[in-house]
Amino acid sequence: MKKITIVGVGRVGESTAQILAKEELCREIMLLDIHEGVPQGVALDIQESGALLRFDTRVNGATDPAAMADSDIVIVTAGIPRKPGMSRSDVLDTNLAIIDEIVDNMLRYAPNAMLLMVTNPVDVLTWHAWKRSGWPRQRVFGQSGALDTARMATFIALETGYSIKDVSPLVLGGHGDAMVPLTRFTDIAGINIEHFLSLETIEKIVERTRKGGGEILDLKKSSSAYDSPAAAVAAMVDAISHNRHRIMPCVSILEGEYEQHGIAMGVPSVLDETGLIKVIELNLNERERADFQHSAEVVRADINRIS
Ligand code: LAC
Repeated sequence: MKKITIVGVGRVGESTAQILAKEELCREIMLLDIHEGVPQGVALDIQESGALLRFDTRVNGATDPAAMADSDIVIVTAGIPRKPGMSRSDVLDTNLAIIDEIVDNMLRYAPNAMLLMVTNPVDVLTWHAWKRSGWPRQRVFGQSGALDTARMATFIALETGYSIKDVSPLVLGGHGDAMVPLTRFTDIAGINIEHFLSLETIEKIVERTRKGGGEILDLKKSSSAYDSPAAAVAAMVDAISHNRHRIMPCVSILEGEYEQHGIAMGVPSVLDETGLIKVIELNLNERERADFQHSAEVVRADINRIS
């Protein structure tokens, strides 16, 4: 992978750049932001850490959107974050205008790139960016499930005491309080979590996962989570840049899968060097299907509002 652009140098953007640079997931990182000096300063700061962290990744910053030219991936983190008491949907209108401009710049300067959406509400904005771009869904997708499953894995590892490396959860649906953690598909070393945890504890973990972003926001008050979201984005980039064919829950445009059309939501998807090449459809039971349907209705309400 030659070049990755990160649009929006807030905390998620900066933290993502640090990980991508350190892991040498591409040759060049371009940071783009509207505030003159900020992307350049952050880029230089990260670049100088390379002498100590031992990476050769080049990190540059710019305010001119033309600097995204020749990017393989454009990661979009620009937008306003929510404040305590706000839902992710509350920032939709402001962020919509920002995303429109970014998509238009991509059409102009990086027409062959993949767009990885991080800005919230991520499901709605992924769908909107896909519509506006006119690109195949393979090249327009979003991050949410990588983070939501990481949170669920953390809670399970902390509760059981077992290694997080063996915990493999699955969370589907929209990236909001109606997301759908699937305990039937969640295991530790291949053994379903019901073997280790009571149904009551599992239910608590499911609830905590659903509200995972809010829990951190309520604690920090002035900022949402950014270290774990950045690590989740980096995991997706790693899958793409190494052509791993990893199965990860991604915000994908649904074209009939899970009985859904005209919507983007978190579902297990396959990532390779060309992007999101496949959506994996699971045979959900009645309760899981109802939960997924409910989550879709929440996302669709926002999509209908902006369409
Ligand atoms: C979260 C926000 C970033 O889940 O959506 O932490």
